[in-house]
Amino acid sequence: MNTSELQLLDMKASPDDRARALLGQMTLTEKIGQMSQVEAGHGHPPDYLGERLRAGLIGSVINNVNVETVNELQRIAVEESRLGIPLLVGRDVIHGFKTIFPIPLGQAATWNPSIAKEGARVAALEAARSGVNWTFAPMVDISRDPRWGRIAESFGECVLLTSSMGAAMVEGFQGESLADTGSIAACAKHFAGYGAVESGRDYATTNVPDTKLRNVYFRPFHAAVDAGVSTLMTSFSDLNGVPATGNSYILEDVLRGEWSFDGFVVSDWDSVRQLQIHGLTEDDRESALVAATAGVDMEMAGDAYSNHLQLHVEEGSVSEAHIDAAVMRILRIKFELGLFENPYTDPGQLPAFADKRAMKAARDSALQSVVLLKNQNGILPLSEKKLDSIAVIGPLADAPYEQLGTWIFDGDESLSVTPLRAIRDLVGSEVDIQYVRAMENSRSRFNEEFYAAVYAARAADAVLLFLGEESILSGEAHSRADINLPGDQVELVRRVRSAGKPVVAVILAGRPLTLSNIIEEVDAILYAWHPGTMGGPAIADLVFGREVPSGKLPVTFPRLVGQIPIYYSQKNGGKPPSADNVVHIDDIDTFAPQTSLGMSAFHLDTCYTPLFPFGHGLSYTTFEYNNMRVSEAEIPLGGTIAISTELTNCGDSEAEEVVQLYTRDLVASITRPVKELKGFTRVRLSPGESKTVTFELHTSDLAFFGRDGKRTVEPGLFHVWIGGSSDTDHRAEFRIIQSQD
Ligand code: NOJ
Repeated sequence: MNTSELQLLDMKASPDDRARALLGQMTLTEKIGQMSQVEAGHGHPPDYLGERLRAGLIGSVINNVNVETVNELQRIAVEESRLGIPLLVGRDVIHGFKTIFPIPLGQAATWNPSIAKEGARVAALEAARSGVNWTFAPMVDISRDPRWGRIAESFGECVLLTSSMGAAMVEGFQGESLADTGSIAACAKHFAGYGAVESGRDYATTNVPDTKLRNVYFRPFHAAVDAGVSTLMTSFSDLNGVPATGNSYILEDVLRGEWSFDGFVVSDWDSVRQLQIHGLTEDDRESALVAATAGVDMEMAGDAYSNHLQLHVEEGSVSEAHIDAAVMRILRIKFELGLFENPYTDPGQLPAFADKRAMKAARDSALQSVVLLKNQNGILPLSEKKLDSIAVIGPLADAPYEQLGTWIFDGDESLSVTPLRAIRDLVGSEVDIQYVRAMENSRSRFNEEFYAAVYAARAADAVLLFLGEESILSGEAHSRADINLPGDQVELVRRVRSAGKPVVAVILAGRPLTLSNIIEEVDAILYAWHPGTMGGPAIADLVFGREVPSGKLPVTFPRLVGQIPIYYSQKNGGKPPSADNVVHIDDIDTFAPQTSLGMSAFHLDTCYTPLFPFGHGLSYTTFEYNNMRVSEAEIPLGGTIAISTELTNCGDSEAEEVVQLYTRDLVASITRPVKELKGFTRVRLSPGESKTVTFELHTSDLAFFGRDGKRTVEPGLFHVWIGGSSDTDHRAEFRIIQSQD
């Protein structure tokens, strides 16, 4: 045995040394095999990939979660191929595996990274039980367009919130060590700018200036890299004229050059071949060349690499050193995962699906994700003691599959506890529950059953109206141009309202919906996103006051679709709107039109503010913020400042508040957002209790990428706010000064 063979076998050698030793023994064909992922879904005979596996032509498979088949594929790769290299087994484990957690946008509404981490850990344990060792999550694309179906999979509009939740998920999936049983490699996707697709149409073009890429879209990816994410996936989209899958600026210059990322990059499904459809390349052959040289290490579910890369190397258009670097990155992750020691999955070594831990985590996550948007006259919580009967109405009250949301390939709908079931369990025989589905699904336009809904509402003391979107209305390729409640739901609300009873709307949806047309028709709104397996019990606990809502919006809710994009960290512009420089279309003075029009950045036919701002979320108690202080009026560059406030629970319930810290850099060499989230924390307070909440900021937290693409902190005045929503006016200020030394 030569030294490199010995090193390969030496488990104490580093993954890097072992990968290098292995690489030294590989033929070019075997190397390109590692760069190829193939679809291995169900329905294929087990030996379907056998020949290619034996020849070392496959590095990874996707979409098989039958543990026996996966073990058999691993066995062929390990025992029957020349070098015995185990497979990466990939699957979209997005917000749970069998046990489903709220959609990522819902998880972001918890503003609680530890909730996301635990959810990802549970998902990893369940997925690993099926032989999966690589997930394509988290999606950390900043999403400021609720029309985009994939906003459901995102953590919303904010750089810091997305970065924190994404990093927490990476930690949950990958565990303390990738080699631990139950750890799976994570994949931050879709690099980069995917969330900026024009008009929210999935796969459409993205045009994002470099300063915005760097200050907004890149940053959650950088945070994922800092959290140790193993892999990144490219976006399907065209980015400033160069589709991400062929974009060496983002992959080589930024990701590898500036961030020193040493994991590997996978394309999105068939996106290497799509370079030709974009019009960047002539054919698959050129696509393979462009993607590989741009820095895509593995091709997902396409055959451009396997058909053409070898020829490119032989002809000299791609160097073998370039291929080696890509293969090294892939092999390193395989070594880190411990696959060479343990390629097989023994389900007995992993927790059962949907065990106690999983169900508790799903319930906690759902509980903290629900946002109380409106609660007129404190109608919520309903007290079962004072009510004899409740009408539960709507297509989403008892829809076990729909409450799970998008991207739940392996989710088990039979585990779902629906709101109707949970409400019945909670109130027992004390309260009469009349259930009327009223619509076949959320899109139905038939209203024959509305009379039954009105009848039930009249006979009840209160109405719980379950509205929203079925899961198919959001997710990949499921964008909408109209984000009102679909079907005849608005009419259902109006009819039910006419019964004259208190109406609580519980909305299950994959995106922010425009709610202007029902907001006045209901007394309260609980926004529950698609809350997952344990959504029902979480909603029931909140409705009846066993728990207090604490979710906060991770994304701005527009009044009308025409306001999009509307997000809290917008720029001020030269003519910012305010209450005294806008006019409404109905108030235009016909006889003096020129003078009555406001001259600012607003729409004539709606208000310039959103319906609900980022960070908004009510509670059953009220929190007061007082006595805001900054530790210094001036801090030198490189210094730290403490910003604190006193928070008091002024109501009767023990509750949690998400305290949010925002800053504004007033004057800078490029214009800066009017507010940027710089910190957040959950604080639990008993009735009457007060606490001082303190945030520390280092001047580097106030850095931004300037005109030259470099990170900089500029001295000057900063405003700082602490509050329970982005529209807080609880403000102080400080100044950054040049340091003396
Ligand atoms: C396409 C999606 O864009 C991506 O997010 C997903 O991971 C792959 N398909 C694999 O299913």
